[in-house]
Amino acid sequence: MNISSRDQKTKKAQLLEDWDQYVTRGVATAEKNIAVKAHGCWVEDMEGKKYLDFAAGIGALNMGHNPAQVVEAIHRQSSDLIHSCFSVIGYPAYIELAKKLTRICPIRDAKVLLANSGAEAVENAVKIARYATGKTNVIAFRNAFHGRTLLAMTLTGKSKPFKSKYGPLAPYVYHEHYPYVYRSPFGSTEEEVVNKCIEQLEDNINSIYDTDDIAAIIVEPVQGDGGFIVGPDAFLQALRKICDKYNILLIVDEIQTGFGRTGKLFAIEHSGVEPDLMTIGKSLSSGLPLSAVVGKKALMDAPEPGALGGTYGGNPVACAAALAAIDFLEENKLCDRAQAIGAEIDRRLKNLQLKYSQIGDVRGRGAMNALELVKDPVSKEPDAELTNRVLKQCHENGLLIIKCGQYNNVVRLLVPLMATDEEIDTGLTILESAFASLCRQSI
Ligand SMILES: Cc1ncc(COP(=O)(O)O)c(C=O)c1O
Repeated sequence: MNISSRDQKTKKAQLLEDWDQYVTRGVATAEKNIAVKAHGCWVEDMEGKKYLDFAAGIGALNMGHNPAQVVEAIHRQSSDLIHSCFSVIGYPAYIELAKKLTRICPIRDAKVLLANSGAEAVENAVKIARYATGKTNVIAFRNAFHGRTLLAMTLTGKSKPFKSKYGPLAPYVYHEHYPYVYRSPFGSTEEEVVNKCIEQLEDNINSIYDTDDIAAIIVEPVQGDGGFIVGPDAFLQALRKICDKYNILLIVDEIQTGFGRTGKLFAIEHSGVEPDLMTIGKSLSSGLPLSAVVGKKALMDAPEPGALGGTYGGNPVACAAALAAIDFLEENKLCDRAQAIGAEIDRRLKNLQLKYSQIGDVRGRGAMNALELVKDPVSKEPDAELTNRVLKQCHENGLLIIKCGQYNNVVRLLVPLMATDEEIDTGLTILESAFASLCRQSI
């Protein structure tokens, strides 16, 4: 061992000790490791070991780590103006990004609010919906994830670890069934499940909630942290119809699905549905903290001046990064690439499912792919332990992937969309060999 690698090992050991000592355990990290550098699809840890990153910062790095033109835009903007606060004095990057977002988001005649995080965008979308309609109730879905602030976690449809012991939660939030076809109590075909979910939603609108007091329905077109559950087009179209019928606003949360992930710029575009408001974040700015609410002008202008804002929302450096990241996505046709990557991953995962009965379901849209692991394909009892072992083994063999799902038993893949075919193959081979060493083959 040379001196510098010995130094790195000592430094790492000290950092790991300080991590335990000084960082709250509430922020969990799957594998305790420390990254020092990254580029494209690769992350390097303190000891120089390289990992393929198929978690992509939980979907925040569709354009990969540190794309050169984003880095350059960050340098340029940070040498000119790092912060002024848009509420004190405006700057070009905020206005330019707002204009760009109205052009690329699937809402006609839109305006934009910029914020810092996904949760903050969700909070603001609901505030705007309530302000504009003068109504109170908000309907979300089981398995949904909308963030960790009070209202966003209340909208989230999973108790542990997101909501449990954090009460009292925000009032006037309700959860309806999302068409989770693999585990739905409503039937086994997509059509049956969608019809029943919509029927029950409409029934509850008429019988449980005050029909005249529902401000909004908020929905992820593909549920992210809830388990990569794809919302069928027919479901999203039916939600739009219900919203129109009962004068309810439709908020589409595209924080994880946006910016090419599902093969369209925004996942809702697959269904042809036009939201009233949408929330975006994560890959919007290629790794800097930035989010947005995009919505119809009349709604976005409902709150009076001063009723929206924040110190850092739409920070100039984050806006400059976002403008460069969107250019990168468009120039490299990453939506098309997501379709191609997703089709190949789906093919490989379905082949893997043929070999291992513990893979209960393979699903996804575009390059948002997942495997749901079960102890038995008939009982569908979730296997969270196997999921952890698969992730651990992959980490040891140089692949970063993460889990999700109501029962923590879904392996999710969020491959950077600029990954080469060779990188995709390398990552999938590591994942396949984890199953080969941990599971008995069923054929
Ligand atoms: C669909 C969705 N909404 C909201 C959020 C919250 O975003 P943030 O963690 O940036 O607050 C997330 C984060 O994973 C998400 O996937």
